[in-house]
Amino acid sequence: MVIPQSTAKKREKAVIVTVEEIGREAWSLEERVKELESLTRSCGVDIVASETCRRKTMTSNFLIGKGKAEDIASLVEENGADVVVFSNDLSPSQQKNLEEIFKVKIIDRTQLILDIFAHRATSNEGKVQVELAQLVYLLPRLSRMWLHLSRQRGAAGGIGMRGPGEQQLEVDRRRVRERVAKLKRSLKDITRQRELRRTQREKFSMLTVALVGYTNSGKSTLFNALTDSDVKVRDQLFSTLDPTIRKARLPNNQIVLISDTVGFLHDLPHHLIESFKATLEEVVSADILFHVMDMSDDLIDFKRAAVFEVLKELGAEKKPVVTLLNKADKVPEALARESVKRKFEDPLVISALHKEGLGEVLDRIVQLIQKDMEDIELVLPQKHYEVVTAIREKGMIRREEFTDKGIFISARVPKDVKYAIFKYLRDKGKQS
Ligand code: GTP
Repeated sequence: MVIPQSTAKKREKAVIVTVEEIGREAWSLEERVKELESLTRSCGVDIVASETCRRKTMTSNFLIGKGKAEDIASLVEENGADVVVFSNDLSPSQQKNLEEIFKVKIIDRTQLILDIFAHRATSNEGKVQVELAQLVYLLPRLSRMWLHLSRQRGAAGGIGMRGPGEQQLEVDRRRVRERVAKLKRSLKDITRQRELRRTQREKFSMLTVALVGYTNSGKSTLFNALTDSDVKVRDQLFSTLDPTIRKARLPNNQIVLISDTVGFLHDLPHHLIESFKATLEEVVSADILFHVMDMSDDLIDFKRAAVFEVLKELGAEKKPVVTLLNKADKVPEALARESVKRKFEDPLVISALHKEGLGEVLDRIVQLIQKDMEDIELVLPQKHYEVVTAIREKGMIRREEFTDKGIFISARVPKDVKYAIFKYLRDKGKQS
């Protein structure tokens, strides 16, 4: 819908516009320009000019004021740009007004992020979430798009091409609404299936560790290294849209689930967090969060704050968080490493790419689990052997003996697993 990428014959040229509302932004203008550049490049678009705009208040008609808009229009013309990309969100009417001045299409922050998401989504769930968010975004803008199209056709002067008229617009609106309703239904089904899988995992309190972090910090690389799997890793933003969950074996042979989630981002529009809630639920239901950070990044403090903003929005900010300072290979100097380490409480320094420090990551998980372990002794009827398997995966078996009454087990397990086992046996006892 937005920026043609791999299929494009020629790469599109963009003028990017970073807008700052003075006194209201956490990031400096320079940092925000850098971020917009990186997001735009992520869409496979060439940047031909970059404009900044600092304002005390945003004007409702153009966001940036008419004079500035005309300057940007000149830049568009001089550079033969095909698109203007904004760092902020625009209302449908601002987009319409600006398009009339620029005479090329405009992409705002939501569209930019959605476009990146659209190209990264691989699972059914990811695709449905993206399409739904795109259509919801499109609906109030449909009439503007028709106006644009009808003008172009009108200019070409073909008979019967002079504007589609209200009737066609209504048909389109109805089609979009129908599709939205259908996608919402599929998303409901997908969410239900995901919840079912989560309940199954929780039956024996399978411990879940969610990797969270700013986009491009190295979550997928770490995920692959810890779970020996092969999630796509690219030096592009958001290479992971769909959460992936895999088992990892700890040094003490226990099994934990590790989940890799979508990259977080500064100023992630609220409605987008809502749109991707099904995916982000994995973060909310995880027992421990591992916050992956690129320790070589100058913006590390800002990105940490941006991640916590999203966690807060999800209601997951109080979960236990372990800081992983990744890309240590890019910070070889001991002094420089120390100065980053000092900023965080008890961080682990790792290089996911070079598989350094991963043993410590797994040991930290064991420590966190064992902090909460209790002894358990029980005799299990043979028919409930699945409980022994569960104890082996979630705890440590000290003694296992076959007796006349069943299997005697002496073990150390996490507190919640102990209760889950007793509940399971009680429920099974009631059923038989
Ligand atoms: P999103 O899916 O966008 O959220 O990204 P991510 O956080 O999953 O990052 P990903 O694992 O895709 O890595 C991003 C880039 O950083 C890739 O080019 C990786 O090869 C690189 N990278 C990851 N870990 C390290 C590391 O320890 N050292 C170095 N030098 N590069 C790394």
